[in-house]
Amino acid sequence: MADPVRFDVVDGVAVATIGNPPVNALSAALRAGLFRAVQRAEADPAIRGLVIAAEGRTFIAGADISEFGKPPASPTLAELVAALDGAAKPVVAAIQAAALGGGLEVAMACSWRVIGPRAKLGLPEVKLGLLPGSGGTQRAPRLMGAAAALRLMVVGDPLDAEAAVASGLADTVVAGDLLAAAREWLGRPKPKPVSQRDEGLGSREDFEKEAAALAKRATTEPQVADCIACVRAAFEMPFAEAVAFEREAFLRLLDDPRSKALRHVFFAEREAARIAGLPAGTQPRPVARAAVLGSGTMGAGIAMCFANAGIPVRVIETDEAALARGMERIRGTYESSVKRGSLAPAKRDERLALIEGAVGLDATAEADLVVEAVFEEMGLKKQVFAHLDRVTKPGTILATNTSYLDIDEMAAATSRPQDVLGMHFFSPANVMKLLEVVRGRDTSPEALATAAEIGRKLAKVPVVVGVCYGFVGNRMLSRRTQQAERLLLEGATPEQVDKALVDFGFRMGPFAMSDLAGLDIGWRIRRATGKRAPVADALVEAERLGQKTQKGYYLYPDGARTGVPDSEVTALIRRVAAQEGVEQREIGQAEILDRLVLPMVNEGARILEEGIAARPGDIDVVWLHGYNWPAWRGGPMHYADSVGLLHVVARLAEFAQQTGDDSLLPSPLLARLAAEGGSFAGLKAG
Ligand code: 3HC
Ligand code: NAI
Repeated sequence: MADPVRFDVVDGVAVATIGNPPVNALSAALRAGLFRAVQRAEADPAIRGLVIAAEGRTFIAGADISEFGKPPASPTLAELVAALDGAAKPVVAAIQAAALGGGLEVAMACSWRVIGPRAKLGLPEVKLGLLPGSGGTQRAPRLMGAAAALRLMVVGDPLDAEAAVASGLADTVVAGDLLAAAREWLGRPKPKPVSQRDEGLGSREDFEKEAAALAKRATTEPQVADCIACVRAAFEMPFAEAVAFEREAFLRLLDDPRSKALRHVFFAEREAARIAGLPAGTQPRPVARAAVLGSGTMGAGIAMCFANAGIPVRVIETDEAALARGMERIRGTYESSVKRGSLAPAKRDERLALIEGAVGLDATAEADLVVEAVFEEMGLKKQVFAHLDRVTKPGTILATNTSYLDIDEMAAATSRPQDVLGMHFFSPANVMKLLEVVRGRDTSPEALATAAEIGRKLAKVPVVVGVCYGFVGNRMLSRRTQQAERLLLEGATPEQVDKALVDFGFRMGPFAMSDLAGLDIGWRIRRATGKRAPVADALVEAERLGQKTQKGYYLYPDGARTGVPDSEVTALIRRVAAQEGVEQREIGQAEILDRLVLPMVNEGARILEEGIAARPGDIDVVWLHGYNWPAWRGGPMHYADSVGLLHVVARLAEFAQQTGDDSLLPSPLLARLAAEGGSFAGLKAG
């Protein structure tokens, strides 16, 4: 492997140039290279100072996250930082791009930070459930003041070049030759190392105010409390003691399941972006114009996604009246963003100008990509696809937003099944990040790559999945929905079920969600598919449709947004349970949670067995971005690993026996992994 640090000496100045693609993470080899550079510069009397520079898209992206959990290799980051801090000769960090986490900690241990206009300086460790662990919690406060440093750490977003200099974190922005400027700074008197500066922390009162404002986040994010404690230590302890305090907190957090989950998410999101089995060199097709069919709930939101990304889009309806309603829906949504202050009026106008309404499918003729979002009816969808086949250009990607229907059947209505696939957005489409890109039997690699690429342009998180009823997300959700209903029959109340999931970290439980969406939606789907849900059906028959009728699973007196429990619902459930012959009992919260979550995991395992999802991490990403699964729980498959697959299998077997429902029996893959002492994460590696 190429040495990640090049060492040159020119006119008495040593330059250590980092080149550790893709992002210059501080791997053991990079740390060793930088450590050697400091030693060589120190040892050679002909060298008067050292410049640390980097090539590539970042300066240094931070510690190498993939090394976390492995035995530490010397020199550690702390040792490297100490060597820079203690160097007798001056060292300049010449920062051309992002210096993040450990990367900024390295830079803060240098004498100066000379930065380019594209530089970004940040401490994003909090997003991984961590805190800066190599002196960052002590040096940042001394450079920019304790209150500002705490904000930088807890918010986790980097400062741009101008802001970094204004804050004191960097010394100067250089528009021209960064290396030449860095060399020039070496001519100045070497300042006291940051570790020896007692000034700069700012007022304790300002810090405590900031800490109090940020402490709210500490309830679910333990790292926030640790950030606060470490920065406070800067006021209260000598530097070395405070660094040891920080180190202890860092190591504790590194071992916390919440940080492990967030690190899993970091890698799972990046892996999901690589489409499994795509032939090397597959190129996405250019998409200059899009068309969206239908301007209902989904079509309107999807059209906005294109406009927000600067892509001209035609919204197509069956008649002028429906089109007018759809365009009004779009305008209304933009308008409320303007009112909230999250969208400038000029931006709204720019976006609206990219959306053009039309009537009739012939208006798709110029589109490079069509997203169909008409009613969820196979007959209609097939007609639409046959029509699109006749009128669109060769090579146009024909995508459907269907929630459940068979994409191969739609593709068969065209003469070009290779260009047909699913682009399954989630409601509200202009907000939710997930995009399930559904690969049909005949979908071509180019079509797939195009849909994923356009998904990223629309600021979505695309995950490629296969064809089956409900794809990955809704298929797993239906398992949870079934169990939630069944738990009511068995004696749990709607609020107990909702509370189990809210306490787990979801923003809302399934029944509060149903009340919000309207109970008639599920009822209509069940009617169409011949399914039943006795409690939900009885509520609809009692005209309890949710918030819109001020009563559903809960009561919403005077249009309240939060429901209150209703004894009528308890009585109704009891009656239905008696009719169904289900005996009621007290059910504890832990059992409720297992009943809701573990059947989803089981379905996820079946999805993997069938190859509907390529990797367990893809399923986790679906749940994080489509259903608000709490990130610090890592997604359902990671969660199963974290509680242990043996436990999962034992609980599922118990539930199957208790309820007589064989679909709860552990899937063969889950049973095998548990028996082998394996995990979903191990499956990925194997
Ligand atoms: N360690 C290991 N690998 C990393 C990494 C890191 N810190 N940062 C990025 N990578 C890898 C990614 O996994 C990805 O690998 P892949 O191509 O095999 O999937 C590759 O680098 C490219 O990453 P992105 O796709 O994210 O590239 P972008 O250009 O979109 O983004 C970035 C670049 C802004 C640097 C982004 O990768 C990022 O935010 N990285 C993490 C930064 C971070 O959290 N740093 C703090 C680490 S913890 C720390 O430093 C502890 C210290 O205080 C002791
Ligand atoms: P909707 O009923 O709100 O809107 C459908 C729109 O399609 C209507 O405005 C209708 O006039 C229009 N339409 C019907 N036939 C048409 C045709 N031939 N040409 C052009 N327009 C036509 O439906 P919604 O909720 O937007 O759903 C659309 C699709 O998206 C469905 O397949 C649904 O399963 C799927 N979906 C829905 C989600 C949701 O939460 N509502 C989530 C994800 C997918």
